[in-house]
Amino acid sequence: MIGVGLLGVRFAVPDRILTNQDLEKMVDTTDEWIQTRTGIRQRHILSEGESSVDLGARAAEKLLQDLNFDKTRIDALLVATATPEMLFPSTACILTHRLGLNGIPAFDFSAACSGFVYGLSIIKSFIESGAHRTVLLVCVEALSKIVNWQDRSTCVLFGDGAGAALLSATETDRRLKSILIGADGQYQEYLYVPLGGTVAMSGRDVFQVACRKMTEAATEALSKAHLTLDDIDLVIPHQANTRIISQVAKLLRIPEEKFFVNIQSYGNTSAASIPIAYREAEEAGRVRPGSHVLFVAFGGGFTWGAAVLKV
Ligand code: ACO
Repeated sequence: MIGVGLLGVRFAVPDRILTNQDLEKMVDTTDEWIQTRTGIRQRHILSEGESSVDLGARAAEKLLQDLNFDKTRIDALLVATATPEMLFPSTACILTHRLGLNGIPAFDFSAACSGFVYGLSIIKSFIESGAHRTVLLVCVEALSKIVNWQDRSTCVLFGDGAGAALLSATETDRRLKSILIGADGQYQEYLYVPLGGTVAMSGRDVFQVACRKMTEAATEALSKAHLTLDDIDLVIPHQANTRIISQVAKLLRIPEEKFFVNIQSYGNTSAASIPIAYREAEEAGRVRPGSHVLFVAFGGGFTWGAAVLKV
């Protein structure tokens, strides 16, 4: 049976850093408030003239270069983004040209912060159906462009970033073991961005539903993979807030040490947060061959998803 293997992940963030101290000069907030409520210390922000396409291209180029990957093998390109440069052409189409992948199918999809897990799910169908063998997934967000920099309740939370992942057909056991995705539009008013507008959020409501749905999704992904919590070596959650992560760890009864957290350096980078965290966990020596990694995501919509990968 053909399965989905992860060949590699790389990421890119803008050079420009915005610290909590910088934000103290922009809105009525404090480093102490931001750190206690969210765990965030700084975030990376695009500079004038830089685009999400530039960021996505940087992550993908790094990935192809580091893996010394023959890009003619890539037969589809997907981009997860809630912040495309244009309504059309899609960021994915623009990237085919930037990356020298002209001709392959390419499209964007929007699942907000659940973009990476949604992407894995689409790619699983592509690969298992035999339609495609090797797919490039780029998760890129330019949230600084849709944040109201005068609204202290939202502007402190987000950052820009991109993660790129290569997925390919495999016959080995090191593959995606289970995946699920879901959505429920009844919560749309808790977190949204109107066309041409900025982020509107009801923080407490997001917090509550996020903890519940992430816990349920993780439990279901484990059950579908016929694994228990003890089998999981590492959890890569969407990096929205350290308090959400702690609460999910508590509800799942997984020791918090198994959760990888890097929100302090990047803020919430939406779809890019899981691939960025995965790569940093790998660099920190926390992803060992043969180990089971649990991804769990939640985002505007609301959308959610979880997956178990044997790496
Ligand atoms: N600095 C200082 N004070 C602030 C700030 C700030 N940046 N932002 C809000 N406050 C104030 C509020 O005005 C309020 O003041 P008041 O009591 O005088 O009215 C007070 O702090 C408490 O506000 P709450 O919104 O009740 O604070 P809460 O403890 O809920 O924390 C937070 C807010 C951090 C947003 C929390 O609700 C949360 O983490 N929610 C989840 C939201 C999230 O992660 N969104 C990301 C996108 S969704 C996703 O990725 C899953």
